[in-house]
Amino acid sequence: MGDMPEVKIAPAAGRLGVLTPGMGAVSTTFIAGVMAVRKGLEHPFGSLTQMGTIRLGKRTEDRVPKIKDFVDLASLDNIVFGGWDIFEDNAYAAAVKAGALDVRLLDQVRDELETVKPMKGVFDRTYVKKLDGEHVKAGGSKWDYAQMLMEDIQRSQEENSLDRLVMVWCGSTEIFMKPHDVHQSLEAFEQAMKDDHAAIAPSMVYAYAAAKMGIPYANGAPNLTADIPAFYELAKETQTPICGKDFKTGQTLMKTILAPGLKARMLGLSGWFSTNILGNRDGEVLDDPESFKTKEESKLSVLEEILQPDLYPELYGDFYHKVRINYYPPRGDNKEGWDNIDIFGWLGYPMQIKIDFLCRDSILAAPIVLDLALFMDLGKRAGFSGIQEWLSFYFKSPMTKPGLYPEHDLFIQFMKLKNTLRFMQGEEQITHMGADYYEYYQ
Ligand SMILES: NC(=O)c1ccc[n+]([C@@H]2O[C@H](COP(=O)([O-])OP(=O)(O)OC[C@H]3O[C@@H](n4cnc5c(N)ncnc54)[C@H](O)[C@@H]3O)[C@@H](O)[C@H]2O)c1
Repeated sequence: MGDMPEVKIAPAAGRLGVLTPGMGAVSTTFIAGVMAVRKGLEHPFGSLTQMGTIRLGKRTEDRVPKIKDFVDLASLDNIVFGGWDIFEDNAYAAAVKAGALDVRLLDQVRDELETVKPMKGVFDRTYVKKLDGEHVKAGGSKWDYAQMLMEDIQRSQEENSLDRLVMVWCGSTEIFMKPHDVHQSLEAFEQAMKDDHAAIAPSMVYAYAAAKMGIPYANGAPNLTADIPAFYELAKETQTPICGKDFKTGQTLMKTILAPGLKARMLGLSGWFSTNILGNRDGEVLDDPESFKTKEESKLSVLEEILQPDLYPELYGDFYHKVRINYYPPRGDNKEGWDNIDIFGWLGYPMQIKIDFLCRDSILAAPIVLDLALFMDLGKRAGFSGIQEWLSFYFKSPMTKPGLYPEHDLFIQFMKLKNTLRFMQGEEQITHMGADYYEYYQ
């Protein structure tokens, strides 16, 4: 295997705690789903860790194990759920309110779901204008809140005999924030927490508590959280994997499937208009222009990064990209997304593509939470730390090492993810050339 270092992976023995700040639609769909799968009631469709396979070696070897048999992932039976919310509903009540899953299914796992009760959240309305919950921690600076969260984590760990933990942010989207001076180093960040500085959002307080304790942290929302130098420093110091941000579902998933295809065939783009209606709490939060701006920034960069207008100015130098999200309560969690795509081909002849995606947001997001939890735990056991670019596959705005551009193309992300797993197990990277190369040249 050449000079590749051997990766030693600690076994996935014992119980894994999956903590979600925010126990709304996505989180409860994930929790109830895992419980239903454990009971054999349903299948984990959409989850790469549970359903996916990976090809190894030469094509002639015919080695295609399931990913979960290839790498040592925590088993679903060993997952314990926990989290925080600013409403005190247990996971059953919250799931019923969210309306993403059928109550008949929820009732089959009701007893177990009811045992999952959110701890009091760290919350400030400045950062999520449309919400106001009572189930919140009181008193103290942001630094004190971080200590309280660490105590919560410690208590959960002891009460549930957890061997390892991961944290996946499933809280509401916070307002748009730009990186600030206090984010530039760990020292400045910690001081700012003590000073209750406005540039420290609640999500950052959770991320700090996790990373400080060496607990992997994934950000499922588009807001600025762990993607600042203070966290890169902390993650290295505590040997913690971090990743984000914004679960890649719905319209953006479609964009990152389609756009690479258009580019591969050198078809030009003159415009891409995307609009959505959705009626869940997430939609309500995004009805606030400041929370929407965070989402918009996350969604807009995708096409630009995939299509590379600087390399292909005639094809992609001048396309018009617009994204709209409209809060429309009757639709609940069942979002509808329309895309109108104006493309052009040979000799500049125009064509149009229309997509009407009747999508279920939480159904697409829940398996991502599961995969991230299991892969982050694997990464931690493999000694990985800092930004986990191999998990870009799951995000609308993948975090990258400073100075690098994010990879948005779903297929390149997929290859990166699988090659990382091969690397972990000391297997050859697959380039899809192999033996063909020699045949062509004979
Ligand atoms: N569903 C998807 O496809 C999808 C895709 C990408 C990103 N996301 C993001 O995932 C997040 C969750 O989405 P959802 O549909 O579950 O939303 P939701 O509104 O149903 O749930 C969010 C929960 O977070 C809680 N919350 C807010 N601030 C909190 C805090 N500081 N501490 C603890 N709890 C807090 C809210 O009370 C709510 O229960 C959102 O930020 C959303 O933008 C979702």
